[in-house]
Amino acid sequence: MSKGKAIVMSGIRPTGFLHLGNYFGAMRNYVKLQEEYTCFFMVADLHALTTHPDTKELKSNVHRVLAENIACGINPDKAALYCQSHVRETSELYLYLNMLAYLGELEKTTTFKDKARLQPDNINAGLLTYPVLQTADIILHRATWVPVGKDQEQHLEMARNFVNRFNHRYGDVFPEPMAYNFGEDLVKVPSLDGTGKMSKSENQLATLYLADTDEMIRKKVMKAKTDSGPTSPNSPKPDYIENIFQLMRLVSSPDTIAQFESAYDECSIRYGDMKKQLAEDMVNFIAPIREKAESIRTNETYLKEIMEKGAEKARESASATMKLVRATMGLEY
Ligand code: TYM
Repeated sequence: MSKGKAIVMSGIRPTGFLHLGNYFGAMRNYVKLQEEYTCFFMVADLHALTTHPDTKELKSNVHRVLAENIACGINPDKAALYCQSHVRETSELYLYLNMLAYLGELEKTTTFKDKARLQPDNINAGLLTYPVLQTADIILHRATWVPVGKDQEQHLEMARNFVNRFNHRYGDVFPEPMAYNFGEDLVKVPSLDGTGKMSKSENQLATLYLADTDEMIRKKVMKAKTDSGPTSPNSPKPDYIENIFQLMRLVSSPDTIAQFESAYDECSIRYGDMKKQLAEDMVNFIAPIREKAESIRTNETYLKEIMEKGAEKARESASATMKLVRATMGLEY
């Protein structure tokens, strides 16, 4: 590991197919950051167990996430790309941090409340302490930058609280981690139906997956909600129309976007044409990633090699941190 460079860490749960939100919220940043920083990117298989206790599909999901990360441009020779459960130090740090996390704050976490509502028969302790495990992932490498989408903002705020408590109680070990995006604000990629964000497991017909076929992409985009168009010039856009523009800003050329923006302002916009254009631009964006990921996904030997190499780098950094943690906590007898 090179000394002196800022440390970057992030993770993605293997709970389904990766989508455009994962790409623009997280992976696009990973690819840029790996050029300049010491990067740790992992597949959060332990976090997946909090909502997906059945492990039948876990292996293929872990392989898919790894393959999709590489297809999007992660270079395993530059960044450590690994699987969370391969770095056992994570569980030890998680245990220590649990003693610094309070029931009240954990119960108030938005993701906990959402998930508890979705799985009322399985409100397990892992779900409650999910942000503690996420903090362990990050600070195990003493990372300062965490490239994530907007939905992870609260988890990062909690991570800073846990870090400050640890440093205050035992001694300065960890820097405060910050959520990171190359643009200014953290990204939230909206779903195609205008009712929320793209998601791995919910709202599948309104989410564009990196594994979607060209036909599926066209079908989903063409079904996006529109109306008969604005009736007075320069009107504000309803949310579902703004979402379509927002998606266009991600994949279309500046000229194309400008053309539809002025058509909207002049009330001459034809949403059918706009969606056709968006669908083609999406196909051009997604198809090369899908094809590359598919060829990597089926090469198990290669994926195993990558995971082992990544875990080795991650364990090296983790064991150095844990040595310092045990000493600082006074756990050396
Ligand atoms: P996960 O697996 O839900 O999502 C992976 C990454 O994709 C981002 N993302 C989005 N960004 C913009 N628009 C969307 N519609 C959208 N949907 C998802 C997420 O913000 C995330 O960056 N708790 C994390 C996994 C994790 C982690 C970590 C992250 C575990 N340990 C340590 C950072 C650091 C999660 O569930 O991400």
